[in-house]
Amino acid sequence: MLGSDGLVVREVGQWTEEKLFYVRRYIDIFTAGMKAKWPRRVYIDLFAGPGRSVIEGTAREIEGSPLIAATTGFPFTELYLNDNDQRAADALRTRLVRLGVNDATVTSEDCNDAALAARRNLFSGVDANRTLGLAFIDPTGFQIKLSAIEEMTRGLRIDLIITVMTGYLRQFIGSASYQVALDGFFGSNDWRGLLDLRRSGEQLTFRRLLDHYEGKLRGLGYLQVDDHIRILNSKEATIYHLVFASKHSRGADFFKKIRKKRFGGQWSLDLGE
Ligand SMILES: C[S@@+](CC[C@H](N)C(=O)[O-])C[C@H]1O[C@@H](n2cnc3c(N)ncnc32)[C@H](O)[C@@H]1O
Repeated sequence: MLGSDGLVVREVGQWTEEKLFYVRRYIDIFTAGMKAKWPRRVYIDLFAGPGRSVIEGTAREIEGSPLIAATTGFPFTELYLNDNDQRAADALRTRLVRLGVNDATVTSEDCNDAALAARRNLFSGVDANRTLGLAFIDPTGFQIKLSAIEEMTRGLRIDLIITVMTGYLRQFIGSASYQVALDGFFGSNDWRGLLDLRRSGEQLTFRRLLDHYEGKLRGLGYLQVDDHIRILNSKEATIYHLVFASKHSRGADFFKKIRKKRFGGQWSLDLGE
């Protein structure tokens, strides 16, 4: 499908706008707040898409995460953008050039290869202590392996925003066709213990599923985790949680700040925190 600029767009549910509302706010606060202390601020997008989407059933077009990152007020010093769909990557490259952004790296690989390539591209031969990263991991399922996140981030400062498909997870966790993907996603097969819990009558709540995944992120040094943002579809069913993870408290403070203003204008009261 083509957008009004003649290039490929993704068709997305209206809830995508809510997800990107938070991503944009975090990118803005991150780039503005970190620019004084961090000479290099790099952005990694492993599932970048073509840079523009159209809201299903409407003619409304919205900017995707890589364009949001490319046009933030205090620019990232480097952008590493990837989508395994060649047409999406080509459209993204053209959109960036039209915006005057000629130096972004745009690749078309599987996310797990791209994670390692991003590390090599952005962190080899430079003083990693001067570089702060933000990686947005926005899959359609469970494609990203924990091992790839581990290898991408080991010893580095890269904040993560991960779309965790909790709705699918709860629905399909017992299905045989997901086993291999979930082994990779969770980094081992211990998630199968959750199925035993369910068999013994316990409910597999989102909390339980998120705790299991976040325990894995903590094992990689991501001690600051925030999963308060839950995105619902038009029938009020949960599709995914946006999980923010950082190795340091500053990023977590920023994320907490930006999520307090909810999409649609309300302010969260954060009851129970
Ligand atoms: C949810 S969309 C990303 C949207 C994008 N973040 C935005 O804001 O517009 C997921 C994208 O991941 C790509 N994708 C699916 N599987 C992938 C994989 N294994 N590796 C890399 N990209 C993949 C799809 O082509 C799709 O464009």
